[in-house]
Order: sequence, then structure tokens, then C-alpha cells
Amino acid sequence: MVKLVIGNWKMHGRQASNSALLDELLAAPCCDAVNVAVAVPSAYLGQIGVRLAGHRMGLAAQDVSRFAEDGAFTGEVSAAMLADMGCRYVLVGHSERRQYFAESAEVLAAKMHHVYASEMLPVYCVGETLAERESGRYVAAVLKQLDDVAVELAGREQVIVAYEPVWAIGTGLVASPAQVAEMHEKLRAALVHIAGASCNISLLYGGSVKADNVDEIFALPQVDGALVGGASLNASQCRKICLAASN
Ligand code: PGA
Repeated sequence: MVKLVIGNWKMHGRQASNSALLDELLAAPCCDAVNVAVAVPSAYLGQIGVRLAGHRMGLAAQDVSRFAEDGAFTGEVSAAMLADMGCRYVLVGHSERRQYFAESAEVLAAKMHHVYASEMLPVYCVGETLAERESGRYVAAVLKQLDDVAVELAGREQVIVAYEPVWAIGTGLVASPAQVAEMHEKLRAALVHIAGASCNISLLYGGSVKADNVDEIFALPQVDGALVGGASLNASQCRKICLAASN
């Protein structure tokens, strides 16, 4: 099965480097596959959206406002605006947002709601901290994050969840295949329960995914794709990850 690969550029890029990176990616047929997207800073959604016109590679946003209606919310970008710019996916609840912007369960549920209402797909990120992993409470911690938005997942046709252990993000530490398989199995069982048996569920893994570890992650039958941070800024790494996804 072809995997979904989303590159999360985080707060990186300038117009010139963005174009150079996309030129290299779009020249590689494996990166312009239907299940590849780039989550770019909101300042560059216009630039990248124009560049991706006519390509299969999708556009994704890294965050969305908790407010749906246009109004006096300085600095915010609504789901309707992201849809208008051509976004297909929106990251919701990335651990960096949870950590630095203290996003509550209520805010995350509102964001999920608005993304679905604007006919895009949220990529809901979950993951335990190192303390939670070491205490043995990691499954409960991650499933609690699903419960926080359960009302927004119930009855959906399609749900995308990215399991990203906080201790593996940007650290070079990648979760072992057994750790990924265990958590993905728990997540899938919980999602079938929450979203319903007919829901099309995609479970991505994220956390230090690189060209040299992606094969063992994608070899796991529990994994439907990857959310890639640092390596997505490097064209050659990105090409190898996309190629692995299409095998
Ligand atoms: P990383 O980031 O690949 O740089 O660890 C992943 C993410 O935060 O989505």
C-alpha cells in the first residue's frame, strides 16, 4: 500500500530556499505522488500553493485558528482561509504547539471541528513525553489525547493520526519498531471504537524519521505513513523517504 508522507517544515524557509527545495522535489516523480504533502509556514502557503498548482503533491498547514468566523482575531488564520489557499491537510495538536502554546483539549477539539467543516483533513498529533514513557503510563497518556477530541472523530469517514513520541522529535532518537507497533495497535483499536468500524484510518509515525531508518518503520504493517520534520528540509532525504513510501 502507498504510504502518506507529510513533510513538516516547522518555522523554516525563505522564498528562495522554498523554491529551490520544491524544484528538487518536484523533479523526482516519487515525491510528486498523490500521498505526499508539505506542511509549510502560513506565510508561505501562497507561494507554495502556486508552485504546487497542477502537481499531485498536496499543501498542508501547520496550525489553524480555534475561531471559525472572520473577525477581530489579530494574527489568526482560519480553516476557511486555509481551504481557500488550497490546503488538503492541517496539522492539529503537534507537540510543539501543545508545549509552547498550551493548547487545551477544548481548543484542539475546536480546531479539528473547523478543519473538517472546511473539507480538509486534520492530521491529529499525539505522543507521550519521556517521563510518561519511563513511568510506564505512555499508552494511557496517548489514548487520553485521542479522548480529548473523540467527539470530533466520531462518525468521520476519514481520520489521520500521527503518533510522535515527544522524546523522538528532533532528537535523533527514533522509537523502536516494537514501540511503534505497540502504540499503533492501541491507537487503531481505540480509533475503531471512537470513529466506527467503517472509518478509513491512517496512522502515521513521526519522530526523527530519516532516509536511513524509514524502511524499517514502513516495513511495519501497522504504519500507514510518516510525518517528517528535519529530514523534509533536505531534498535528498525527502526523495528517499518518498521512494520508500511508494514501494
Ligand atoms: P523530526 O520532527 O522529524 O525533526 O523529529 C517530526 C515532527 O515534529 O513532526
